[in-house]
Amino acid sequence: MIVSTAAAIGAAIALSVLPRANAAALHKPALARRDCPDYTDYSQSPHSPYSDGPLHLPFQRPTAECRTFVSESVEKVISDVTSRLVDPDLAMLFTNALPNTLDTTIAWHVNGSWVHKRSPKATWTGTQSFVITGDINAEWLRDSVNQLMNYQTLAKSDTALYQLILGAINTQAEFIINYPFCGAFQPPSPSGLAPTNNTQIDTVTPNYDHSFVYECKYELDSLASFLSLGNQFYNATKSTEYLSDRWYTALDTVLKTLDEEAQPTFDSNGQYVTNIYTWQRQTTLGTETLSLTGEGNPLNRGVGLIRSAFRPSDDATIFGYFIPANAMMSVQLGRTADTLEAVGGNKTLVEGLRTRSVNLRKAVWEHGVFEHPTYGKVFAFEVDGYGGRNVMDDANIPSLLALPYLGFLDVNDETYQNTRKMVLSADGNPYYLSGSAFHGIGGPHEGLTTAWPMSLLVQAQTTDNDTEIMDCINLVINSSRLGLIHESINVNNITDYTRPWFAWANSLFSQTILKIAEEKPHLIFNDSTPYVVPT
Ligand SMILES: *[C@@H]1O[C@H](CO)[C@@H](O)[C@H](O)[C@H]1NC(C)=O
Ligand SMILES: *[C@@H]1O[C@H](CO)[C@@H](O)[C@H](O)[C@H]1NC(C)=O
Ligand SMILES: *[C@@H]1O[C@H](CO)[C@@H](O)[C@H](O)[C@H]1NC(C)=O
Ligand SMILES: *[C@@H]1O[C@H](CO)[C@@H](O)[C@H](O)[C@H]1NC(C)=O
Ligand SMILES: *[C@@H]1O[C@H](CO)[C@@H](O)[C@H](O)[C@H]1NC(C)=O
Ligand SMILES: *[C@@H]1O[C@H](CO)[C@@H](O)[C@H](O)[C@H]1NC(C)=O
Ligand SMILES: *[C@@H]1O[C@H](CO)[C@@H](O)[C@H](O)[C@H]1NC(C)=O
Ligand SMILES: *[C@@H]1O[C@H](CO)[C@@H](O)[C@H](O)[C@H]1NC(C)=O
Repeated sequence: MIVSTAAAIGAAIALSVLPRANAAALHKPALARRDCPDYTDYSQSPHSPYSDGPLHLPFQRPTAECRTFVSESVEKVISDVTSRLVDPDLAMLFTNALPNTLDTTIAWHVNGSWVHKRSPKATWTGTQSFVITGDINAEWLRDSVNQLMNYQTLAKSDTALYQLILGAINTQAEFIINYPFCGAFQPPSPSGLAPTNNTQIDTVTPNYDHSFVYECKYELDSLASFLSLGNQFYNATKSTEYLSDRWYTALDTVLKTLDEEAQPTFDSNGQYVTNIYTWQRQTTLGTETLSLTGEGNPLNRGVGLIRSAFRPSDDATIFGYFIPANAMMSVQLGRTADTLEAVGGNKTLVEGLRTRSVNLRKAVWEHGVFEHPTYGKVFAFEVDGYGGRNVMDDANIPSLLALPYLGFLDVNDETYQNTRKMVLSADGNPYYLSGSAFHGIGGPHEGLTTAWPMSLLVQAQTTDNDTEIMDCINLVINSSRLGLIHESINVNNITDYTRPWFAWANSLFSQTILKIAEEKPHLIFNDSTPYVVPT
């Protein structure tokens, strides 16, 4: 089936792979969905039926035959939760949001074996899943891990979801082995899906294959996300099937990349050493290129932090030692050590991972914390190891607000609580944005008049205060006029938003509702019986 799809798309792509006979599509391939409307268009306008809540939110799921993946166990969670939700608008939004990644973003999911001719290091063997971000036909490592997060628990007993996530790990391993500095990837060539044309003109070292990579921004959290995907899968299923030779090769590649990106700007003789990764774009936007001919601003020696050229927003860092991603990497290295130890893995490797995790944690506390004149001891967003720091937070995860969500510290930690107060106030965080209709943390990516629903969802997940939780949730519901969670909202006009179809935000929303359903059911249900997603 896949072979004929590839042949139909064009000889250029079909010739770039060597198909083998055992390829089997594990989902509805694109060919079967060719008469379905493009969801980028579909998501731009409301569809019936509408909820009978005050906002009359529309039903935005594609029709059954146009969904990219169907899961009975996810349908059951939707009906179990929505039958108990009191607010009909919330129920409609949850109905649309929980399955959004399955409904719309599983672009390719197969079991087969191929070799990519142009990037011969890629060997697509076994179950593969290519999960697009939403309105761009490309997979971001970070987005896809977050998109799939809600389905991990169900994967223990649902073999189709198990295969989907296993495939996503296998596919990400190939991406990382080939291009560890890149964060967003093209459909793998055996899919027969045409590569998406990225019209930006980037000058990047190391160079890369544009038919394999969509965009090569180096973001430390992309690599941490790959580790997180496997750690979540093991934690949920206790399966070790993902620990293939390719996964271990990907892990080695991650560790080598961390060592390369722990290199400072000057060597011990004070001589400039160009980093292995440089990036420049022809652009008028300061956040879309790196200073000093693609190197980024100087970073000091002996700090122990790992640089990140870009943030999870895909904006350039100002100081490359980006604290939230270092914190996240420390957590995921530690969890990878725990996982490999639990399955009787190589002791030297386990110890090495644990040492890296501990050292990175120490470096975050030592270099990432400073005394703020108003808020006391707080975390900086980015530092350079010379005393330079950038004090702000951005809505994208990993963020400072999300440090407990990431598992780096306890929500009651004093430095975190000080930081939380700072980043949730307009005088402490230049990107805390408020207007007559909406407020929250935004970021340079969409400018100074829009705040992001994602920041309100993280705020709701990092407090015990019922009023604060429901204020955040209700504001997000009110901002979701197309029945989906959008990227950012104009703070003075709640119906003015960016990206109607942004799958990650929908997953984060449903995850937040599931957390409330389990921990604070009285806030959204008629009764106080917790709802726990079955395993
Ligand atoms: C919640 O309780 C109210 C009052 O008892 C009732 O009218 C309503 O139908 C209930 N809603 C749900 C979703 O059970
Ligand atoms: C994938 O293919 C292999 C080899 O043919 C087979 O052993 C395995 O059971 C298949 N897995 C799935 C999920 O179909
Ligand atoms: C990609 O877009 C650019 C700019 O629009 C165009 O010049 C180029 O031909 C396109 N390439 C492909 C392969 O479509
Ligand atoms: C592992 O899964 C359990 C149950 O879902 C969850 O409570 C716990 O936070 C998870 N641990 C990690 C490290 O992800
Ligand atoms: C165990 O891991 C270490 C460090 O990665 C490696 O050097 C060694 O070869 C591994 N041993 C085995 C038996 O695979
Ligand atoms: C939604 O927001 C608008 C604009 O701020 C406000 O007038 C309205 O009362 C809100 N509606 C609900 C249901 O919260
Ligand atoms: C809970 O949150 C509300 C709304 O943000 C706030 O007004 C109130 O002071 C908070 N309560 C506590 C105990 O912090
Ligand atoms: C709010 O935004 C919507 C969508 O962009 C636009 O149609 C409407 O005119 C805006 N309202 C105001 C008062 O500017």
